[in-house]
Amino acid sequence: MATQAREATDAAISILKAGGNAADAAVAAALVLAVVYPNAGNLGGGGFAVIRMRGRTTSLDFRETAPSEASAGMYLGPEGSPKPLASLLGPLAAGIPGSPRGYFELHRRFGRLGWARVVAPAIRLARDGFPVSAHLARLLGSEDAVFLRAFEESRRVWLPEGRAPEAGRMIRLPALARTLQAYADRGPDAIMSGEVARAMVRVSTRHGGILSLQDLETYRPVWRKSLGFDAFGWHVASMGLPSSGGLILAESSALLEGKNYAGLPKGGADRMMLLAEAWKRAFADRYLLGDPASTRADVSTLLLPQRMERLAGEISLAKSTPSAVVRSIELPPGRESSETTHLSIIDGEGGAISLTTTLNGNFGCGLLVPEAGFLLNNEMDDFATAPGQANQFGLIQGEANAVAPGRRMLSSMSPTIAWNDEGDLIVLGAPGGSRIPTGTLQVLLHLIVDGEDLQAAVDAPRIHHQWLPDRLFAEEGALSPETIAVIRSRGLETSSTRAVGLVQAVRREADGSMEAATDPRGSGEAGVVGSESE
Ligand code: GLY
Repeated sequence: MATQAREATDAAISILKAGGNAADAAVAAALVLAVVYPNAGNLGGGGFAVIRMRGRTTSLDFRETAPSEASAGMYLGPEGSPKPLASLLGPLAAGIPGSPRGYFELHRRFGRLGWARVVAPAIRLARDGFPVSAHLARLLGSEDAVFLRAFEESRRVWLPEGRAPEAGRMIRLPALARTLQAYADRGPDAIMSGEVARAMVRVSTRHGGILSLQDLETYRPVWRKSLGFDAFGWHVASMGLPSSGGLILAESSALLEGKNYAGLPKGGADRMMLLAEAWKRAFADRYLLGDPASTRADVSTLLLPQRMERLAGEISLAKSTPSAVVRSIELPPGRESSETTHLSIIDGEGGAISLTTTLNGNFGCGLLVPEAGFLLNNEMDDFATAPGQANQFGLIQGEANAVAPGRRMLSSMSPTIAWNDEGDLIVLGAPGGSRIPTGTLQVLLHLIVDGEDLQAAVDAPRIHHQWLPDRLFAEEGALSPETIAVIRSRGLETSSTRAVGLVQAVRREADGSMEAATDPRGSGEAGVVGSESE
C-alpha cells in the first residue's frame, strides 16, 4: 500500500497482517492520517473511495454537503463582488463533514475485522503521541498554516508555545483520542450527533459559521456506480459525480486513443500537445457539472463515442485550439494551492481500494473543534461561489455547481483502479486539487501505455492543463527547452510549476507479486507486506 504518512502505511500493514482486508486497511490508514497528517487527513472533511472487492467494483461518495442555511449568494458582498476569503477561512467555509459516516460505511460493507480493531491504531497515536514529521513541522511553520493560526482553538493544539513544533517533537492529542475512542465504541453517531456534534455547532456559530445539528445528524454517504471506461486495453474505474475526476480521466483517455497517443514519441512535443488539447476539452466539460442530484449535465452523454470522435477530430497537434474556442466564457484571474490526501491499497486476495480524502486547503478552514480535537474543512470553496470567479485551484465553474442547501460541491478527486484481462491490477490516485486527474492520468499512461516500472512512473516529471488559464504548466524536467520552443510555436504558452499531484500507486501482477510506490514530491510511504520495504 501507499499513503502519505509512514504511520498510516504502518497501520495498514499491521491490519493486513492481522487478517484484515483492503477495506480494513484503508479505513485504519485514513484514520491515522486524521491524527498525524492534520493538514489533509480528517474527521471534519470528506472524500471518495473506489472499491474493487469480491468481484464487484463500486464507489462511495462521502463528499461534504452545503449546510441547509447555505445560499447561492452567501460569499458575495452587497455589490455582488466576492467577499475575500469568505469561502476559505473560518467555519462559514465548511461543508457538513462526510468522513465519519464514510469511513464507517466503507468498513461496514466491505471490512472483515471488527470496527474497534480498525480504529485502534489512530486512537493509540492520538493518545500516546507521535513525532511530528518534517513535512508537518514545515507546513505548520509556513504560510500553509495561515488559516490555522487565525484561531486560538487551533493554535493551542498545533502551535503549542505559540510556534510550530520542531520535527521529531512528540505530540499528544487527548481530545482527538477521546473522539476516536467514542467513534470506536459507538460508530459515527458519536461524532455526527450528541456531544461532539454540539461542539461542532458551538464553535462554528461562535466564529460565524452555519453548521447545524440537524445537518450533521442527517448527513449520509452515498454508494454510487463507479465511472468505468476502457483505455489502451485496460479496464478503468474512477469516481463519477460529484467528482469530475472520472469524467476528466475518461474523456481525455478517449481523446488520446482517438489521436494515437501510444504511437507518438515518448516525452515529445506531440504527446505534450495532445495531452494539453485533451485536458482542455475535458476541463471545459467539467464547467457543466455539479452534484448529480441537481445538475442536468449527463456524463454518459458527454462521453458518447460519436462525441469523442468529433472532439478528437477537432484536435490539431500542429496548432493549439485557444481555450476560448473550446468553450467561451469570461476569463478572470486565478490562483492555486491545495492539500488532500490519497491512499492506495491492494490486499492479498486482490481486493483493491483507492481512497482520497480532504479538508480542501491545508488545515481546511483553520478552525479546530476544541472538545473533539479535529479541524473543519473549507470545502465550500469547491462550489462556484461567485459567477465567473476562479476558486483556489484556479478553476472556473458553472451554474450547475452553484452553492445550494444540501448540495455536494464538485470535486476533481480521482481515486482510480485499473485492471487488464491478464489479471494485472493497479490502484492509484493523488491529492492536488485540479491537478489530481492530470497527475493521476500521466502515471497511468506511463504504466499501461509505456510499460514503465511503478516507481519510475510515479517519479516522472508531469505537466498540467485545465482549460483555464490557457497555459501548459510543467514541473521541472517535464519539458526540454526544445520541446517548450516547439509547443510555443504551435500557439500554446507554457509555465513552470510546482508538483502536479502527489501520486500513491500500488500494483499487483497476475502472478500475485506486489509493488507500491509513493510520490517523491511528498512525504508518504509505500509498503508491501512481507517485503524489505515493510
Ligand atoms: N477539494 C478539492 C477537490 O475536491 O477537488
